Amino acid sequence: MANSKKVLLTGGAGYIGSHTAVQLIQQGFELILVDDLSRSELRIIEGVEKITNQRVSFHQGDCSNSAFLDSVFETNQIDSVIHFAAYKSVNESVQQPLLYYQNNVGSMTTLLKAMEKFHVNEIIFSSSCTVYGEPDRIPVNESAPFKKAESPYGATKQMCERILEDCIQANKELRSVSLRYFNPVGAHPSAQIGELPIGTPSNLVPYVTQTAAGIRQKLTVFGNDYNTPDGSCMRDFIHVVDLAKAHVMALQKVEALENRGEVFNLGTGIGVTVLDLVKRFVKTTGIPLNYEVGPRRAGDVEKIYADPAKAANILGWRTQLSLEDSLLHAWQWEKQIRGIK
Ligand code: NAD
Ligand code: WQD
Repeated sequence: MANSKKVLLTGGAGYIGSHTAVQLIQQGFELILVDDLSRSELRIIEGVEKITNQRVSFHQGDCSNSAFLDSVFETNQIDSVIHFAAYKSVNESVQQPLLYYQNNVGSMTTLLKAMEKFHVNEIIFSSSCTVYGEPDRIPVNESAPFKKAESPYGATKQMCERILEDCIQANKELRSVSLRYFNPVGAHPSAQIGELPIGTPSNLVPYVTQTAAGIRQKLTVFGNDYNTPDGSCMRDFIHVVDLAKAHVMALQKVEALENRGEVFNLGTGIGVTVLDLVKRFVKTTGIPLNYEVGPRRAGDVEKIYADPAKAANILGWRTQLSLEDSLLHAWQWEKQIRGIK
């Protein structure tokens, strides 16, 4: 049975990895979590254990270290891998491109080599809508061409997808699914796990919740002169629990997919503007938010949202949670980590 698989989650202590771990454990999968904790903390693993009431098998280490990965494969009979481990800050990748190429591409090639050595032939990969750049048409579907990546981070996602395509060609046993996430937001409804941004958040929702918590003085909305209903940028904000559930479905279906190398958009299919999100945060939580409109942020795409039909048709996956759920859960998580009643 598909749910009896033993699954390795690289970056399993991270934001999306930990939410996926919860869903997989609740569906009866056996998990091995690997993370170097460079961008997360042990308390996230503890949160997964609290939610699921189960001990988690966790190995701390770097996925671009082949000796470490080999030891994990050697001591565990792994059937499938979900590869979350990567750095994800667009800004940081512009400042430190080599760090991003080395970590994101290096961990992918090291992992694929270890998988080959230990005859593990299923991989689900965390890709991103960033591979599309500013799409010519929205909603964007999976056949839209890649544009020149706006950042080294985006380039690493394009490269990793290409690496997978090449390995699928070379190894007829290998199966891969690249999941292109749109904008993951929210937290687990238990408020035991959520996003842990490092320093000042660059992503919108953590900035909103930190402003509401009084940690930031005010939110700056980057631009109100875009070609959108209220002039602010438009995105597809998807609840992280819905996103996590797609990984379960991908794992259950991967063996049966017609294409050995598949790609799915994971988004709601609904475009929401930044100003609309701010209004809905205030309405949902009842917390006033200090914000101002500022200049555009360099490199921002004007509007993008997913056509999620392929994931619905092939994986049977649909989002179930609303933006209001996302904003409420993000706020509950922020309150929990700050000790706010
Ligand atoms: P995250 O930073 O919370 O999680 C990534 C985890 O990987 C962290 O816990 C970090 O410590 C770990 N890690 C990084 N490099 C590692 C290495 N070499 N070895 C072992 N562990 C390592 O990020 P996330 O939001 O959970 O993102 C997960 C994946 O999804 C990433 O690949 C990211 O690029 C991708 N993604 C994220 C978003 C988003 O907005 N959150 C959107 C699209 C795609
Ligand atoms: C969303 C909107 C900002 C902060 C990034 C990556 C993408 C993917 C998801 C990983 C934009 C506006 C933001 C603020 C604002 N990650 N904003 N004030 O840029 O859509 O996507 O995360 O793969 O690759 O590029 O997400 O949350 O940074 O911004 O007005 O303080 O909110 O301008 O329009 P983005 P974001």
